[in-house]
Amino acid sequence: MSQIIRWGILGTGRIAKKFASDLQYVTNVKLVAAGSRSMESAKEFAKEFPVDFLHDSYEALAQNSEVDVIYIATPHNLHYENTMLCLRHGKAVLCEKPFAMNTRQTREMIALAKEKNTFLMEALWTKFLPHYQKVQQMLKEGKLGEIKSVLVNFGFVPPVPTPARMFDPALGGGTIMDIGIYNIFIAMSVLGKPDAIEATMTPAPTGVDEQCAVLFKYNSGAVAQLFSSFASNLATEADICGTAGRIRLATRFYEPGTTIEYYPDRVDSRQIINVDKEPGFGYQYEARHVNDCLLKGLTESPVVSFKDTLDLMELLDAVRKKAGVIYPADVG
Ligand SMILES: NC(=O)c1ccc[n+]([C@@H]2O[C@H](COP(=O)([O-])OP(=O)(O)OC[C@H]3O[C@@H](n4cnc5c(N)ncnc54)[C@H](OP(=O)(O)O)[C@@H]3O)[C@@H](O)[C@H]2O)c1
Repeated sequence: MSQIIRWGILGTGRIAKKFASDLQYVTNVKLVAAGSRSMESAKEFAKEFPVDFLHDSYEALAQNSEVDVIYIATPHNLHYENTMLCLRHGKAVLCEKPFAMNTRQTREMIALAKEKNTFLMEALWTKFLPHYQKVQQMLKEGKLGEIKSVLVNFGFVPPVPTPARMFDPALGGGTIMDIGIYNIFIAMSVLGKPDAIEATMTPAPTGVDEQCAVLFKYNSGAVAQLFSSFASNLATEADICGTAGRIRLATRFYEPGTTIEYYPDRVDSRQIINVDKEPGFGYQYEARHVNDCLLKGLTESPVVSFKDTLDLMELLDAVRKKAGVIYPADVG
């Protein structure tokens, strides 16, 4: 592989454009190709992000020998099929979250990456953000004592016209897979996998969860209370609470713009912890990591490992099962 990693983007929607824009902050990178279902949207993408190759099918992009790694930015239900296609053509893959529709698909994707000896990673961008790293460091230093609870909420009213993928069961609609995944990720990265799970949802007219409340219980006595909603604009905050202090990620806890509030004592003890933040949306951190992995010849990320991805997907499956959210991809 050359010293410049050549990227292709598969699916040219909203997140693809943000990711493409953030590649400008990564060195040793060139965005060389985009693949779309139609030449019309491929051309639309290329107006903003000129590339050497525009493909009117995902297959053609996967076959392009001038591409080293493909970022998959299609709706959830296509992640499995698109990843398998790219891996079969020997392409490294960075696949958007949720990695797949369920654990079965996740296992198959990982197995194929191993068989092909090709890099594969879930685009869990929050894990690479400076504020997340800072929180991890504070936890390691014992700033909060023993963690007793994690309280996370994530909610917004979808824009109109509402993207089909938000509520369509065939596209993996509902809050759990789209935004609840961040809540679960935060709970898991602080407390690990729970010993018991409770979950309940209120359905949208399509049957997928419009809102979902999740409770993780731990034998240690810790609890995580997670809530996701497409019905209301919520604060979208995360509280990590221990015997010796509390951290609150205020507003959009999953994004680089969030503020870390640290409370070593009661509510009037607040300290603001500042972290450096680069310009951009924040997707350059994960892109930089993938680039580094590829330049080192790695086939698995040491930061978002296959086990991390499987653990997260198993929890998503478990929460959906408890809440009663079943997708066509789960049956058959
Ligand atoms: N990490 C993050 O912060 C973040 C943020 C938002 C979304 N995401 C994830 O990224 C994925 C895409 O989300 P998005 O908001 O970018 O979606 P989007 O704007 O709807 O774009 C998805 C793209 O996928 C392609 N596509 C193929 N089949 C489709 C279908 N049946 N319906 C709609 N689009 C189809 C289209 O591209 P072509 O026409 O070019 O083929 C479309 O533009 C989701 O899995 C989501 O979870 C991640």
